[in-house]
This record gives sequence, structure tokens and C-alpha cells, in this order.
Amino acid sequence: MSDTAITAPIATIASLSQHEGQTVTLRGWLYNLRASGKLLFPIFRDGTGTIQGIVPKAAVPEEVFNTLKELSLESSLTVTGKVRADSRAPSGYELDVETITVIQKVPEDTPFPIQLKEAGVDFLMEHRHLWLRTPRQSAILRVRATIMRAAAEFFDTNGFIRTDPPILTPNACEGTSELFEMDYFDDDKAYLTQSGQLYIEATALALGKVYSFGPTFRAEKSKTRRHLTEFWMIEPEVAFLELDGLMDLAESFITHIVTRVLESHRADLKVIGKDITKLEAIIAPTPPATSTVAAENQSVILAPAPAATSTVATENESVILSEAQSAQSKDPEAVGSTNTSQTLSATKANRFPRLSYDAAHAMLEQAYAEGKLENPHKYGDDFGSPDETYISSQFDKPVMIHRYPAAFKAFYMQPDPLDPTKALCVDVLAPEGYGEIIGGSQRIDSYDLLKSRIEDHNLPLAAFQWYLDLRKYGSVPHAGFGMGIERAVAWICGLDHVRETIPFARTLNRIYP
Ligand code: 4AD
Ligand code: MG
Repeated sequence: MSDTAITAPIATIASLSQHEGQTVTLRGWLYNLRASGKLLFPIFRDGTGTIQGIVPKAAVPEEVFNTLKELSLESSLTVTGKVRADSRAPSGYELDVETITVIQKVPEDTPFPIQLKEAGVDFLMEHRHLWLRTPRQSAILRVRATIMRAAAEFFDTNGFIRTDPPILTPNACEGTSELFEMDYFDDDKAYLTQSGQLYIEATALALGKVYSFGPTFRAEKSKTRRHLTEFWMIEPEVAFLELDGLMDLAESFITHIVTRVLESHRADLKVIGKDITKLEAIIAPTPPATSTVAAENQSVILAPAPAATSTVATENESVILSEAQSAQSKDPEAVGSTNTSQTLSATKANRFPRLSYDAAHAMLEQAYAEGKLENPHKYGDDFGSPDETYISSQFDKPVMIHRYPAAFKAFYMQPDPLDPTKALCVDVLAPEGYGEIIGGSQRIDSYDLLKSRIEDHNLPLAAFQWYLDLRKYGSVPHAGFGMGIERAVAWICGLDHVRETIPFARTLNRIYP
């Protein structure tokens, strides 16, 4: 062992650029090992990244060479070596290994079960506790952490107060059929929360601008690639906010998150295999409507919807067009009165497309007529996955669809005064067919209307009395949305299935490990 090896400072793989030419000690695991005659090429990982080592037999003590040659994958170790820049290496660096100390050798008769070659998803999910160690899965978790941090940071720095709603609740928020029920002492029942919304409406009327961030639960019997039974949701709720302001907020929020991910995860996104240009397009300012696609869309947007055309839809849509054309014209402080970050004003130039339900329906009708969609969309129905995919494929940026028929939306949504069959709500669809990532709305602020909606939905009035109180004591217009973190991670990382977006996914048929 050389003197430098003994004194070599401990470093992480992610920080090796600061140690070029120096001898450092890394602490981690043996991820892979290739031998070629008198040369060994181990790959080490330490949780911050991977690096290839070079071990020529002639350059190291015999025992170092032999130890490494026999070492089983995922054995834990410390390794000391000199950091050398190499433009061909994925991380930009290689390690000229000097010494190695094995901490725990994985027994040869029980090798690490995850082979570096392809394994079936069921097998990988069954071994999720070990699958997490592979570079792609680790990269996804790093991006997830940044998405969560950026999401909270956006609200923390824009005057929102974090208020945590309970996880054990006495009633439903998003539909009674998807509740996990449990016993709660003395014959009472409790339910795992589906959304913190109802509670943060109360804190919003106390504090003005609030958000919640925590796990939420849906006993959904859906086996789709978008559904988990336990997922993390971040939800802002704002007093004196209406639908247009809510859409501005969602746009700034998404732009901020994508900006942060691009700032620090280009290498991770490369490991994951995500085409970064698609994300760059999200935060690029919208050019004036010159492209054919954009122009076509806008004519669709402006075309009167075939059924139930309301004045407000047409009015709103012409507003959209003029806003897109003079993107900077609006007051950048309109949403967050205390906002000082650049995100909000920068975003004003980004303008995600906004389409009413009617306009989106018209777009689907046209697509079906042109043979671009297999099935027609029935006016009045929710959009199916192929519908959402088609709509989002028409744009580079997330699309906001607003004013859905109230009939299939939640009981608490404020009706559109200009067409009460519609709700003042918005779903944000991610690009590239990732579907809904955000759902939100303006809330009913009238006591009587909310009471009759609770009754119409056969919800227990007594359990909602506190919620009705919010409309009795100083009711104001207010609005909020929820974003599922896993949906956002799936989209930003370009993953086929939400099960890879969370360390341990809970789905209809999985609760192990
Ligand atoms: O659209 P949802 O059901 O809206 C609400 O829960 C509102 N109370 C939120 C609010 O207004 N404060 O759910 C919001 C988001 C969806 O857009 C989606 O991203 C995510 O939560 N989500 C799920 N993610 C993973 N698995 C599931 N089963 C999900 N259900 C909803
Ligand atoms: Mg929804």
C-alpha cells in the first residue's frame, strides 16, 4: 500500500471532477467486473454514481489483483485509486486502482440475484430491495428526490405555508369506492386519506396560501401503468384564487420543477434514457404561433365546439390565442402576490396551451374524422387514455384542459356561471402520452350549493359539517390542485410504468417487499 493510499481523502463518485489527478478513497460496492487477460475492469458504485476502475496486474500488488478478480458482485468495499479524466468514460473519469479493502464479500454460493442482463419485471419487483442498486433505478430515485424538493421549494419560496392534513380521515374526498377502510376504536371506521384537499381548504381560509405534501391512498382496482394504491401528492390551496389564476400557478409550478431537474440531472436522465430535448421544450418560451401544428391547433381551439358551445368557452379560447401571441402582456404578479422568484415571471412567456373540454372534444372529433383515432370520443364522457395521448401529442408542452362536464367530476367543484353543466376545473396532461399529472379546480363557495351537492352524491352530511362551516364563516372563492409525484416522475424520466418511480410501489397485486 502506497503512502498516498493511506492518506487518500474520502470522496464520492459524483464529486470526482474536484479530484482529478488525485488519489482518493471511494466507499461502495462492486457493481460489475470484466477481466481481459492481465487487466481487470471493475465498475464501482457508491450511490452517487458509477466509475470504472483499471487494474493492470503489473501495476498493483498481487493480492489486490487476486482479491478483486475473485470478488462477487455487490460485495461492499473501499477502494483507493487515482482519478484520471477520460472523455470516453460515461462519468468522464476512470480510477487507476491502487488498493482495495473488502468489507463484506457476497457468498459465492448465493450470488447477487439481479443479473446485469435483462430480467423480467415481476422478478425485479420481487427483488425491489436489490433492484434499487442498479444505476438506472438509482438515477430515477435521485431525480424523484429533486422533483419533490423542487415542488416544495416552489411553494415555500412563493409565500405558501405548508400545512399537513391528517392521513386517517372519517370520510371520502375523491369518491367513496376507492377508500381503504380500517377499524378505529369502539366500532368507528377510519379511512386512509385520498387527498388532503378538504383539510387544506380549511387551512387556506386560515392562512391564505397553503400546501400539503404527503402520501395518499386509493383502493383503485386499476391495473394500469399510471395507478398506484399509495402515492405522494403535493397540493396547493389558495384563498381568493379562481380558475385562470390556478392554471397560471400550475404552469409556473411545472416549469420550476423541470428547470430544477435539468439543472442537476442531465447525467441521470442520460442513464435513464430520457430524451432531454423534450424537457427543454417545456421551459423554452413559446414562439409566436408560426408552426403548422400550432396554427392548426389554434384554429381547432377557436372553432366553435359542435355541441353545447358556450360563450365563455369561445371567449376564453380567444383569450388563449392572444395571450400566446403577446405572452408577456399579463401582470407577472397576478398569481402569487408575494412571489419574488424569477420562475413566475419567466413562465409568463411559456404559456402552456389551454383548451376547454369542448375544444378538446372538437380536436378529437376532427382526429377521428381524419382516421387518426381508432374510436370516436363521445361528447359528455371523460377522455380515455388514447384521447389524452392524442391531445398531448399535438403540443410540446403540458396541455391544460379546463371546464369538464360537472357530471363526472368531484362534488366540490364550482360550476361555471356561464354554463353550469361545466365545472371550473383543470386537468394538466403531460406531453408524450403520459396523461394527467395534475387535477384541480375552483371550489364551491356557496353553503347551499355545496350542501345540495353533498346530498346529491349521497355523502353523509354529518361527516361534512365542518367542511360546510368553511362556507358559513367568511366564505371566499378559492382553488387548488393536486399533483401526483409518481406521475410527474414517470413523465420527466420517460418511464413506462409508475412502479419504477417510487422506492417500493404499492399496486393492486403487490405489497412485497
Ligand atoms: O385528480 P385527483 O383525483 O385530484 C384530487 O385528489 C384533488 N383532491 C386534488 C386537489 O384538487 N387538491 O388526483 C390528483 C393527482 C392526479 O392528477 C394524479 O397525478 C395523481 O394525483 N393520482 C395518482 N397517482 C398515482 N396513482 C393513482 N392511483 C393516482 N390517482 C391520482
Ligand atoms: Mg383527476
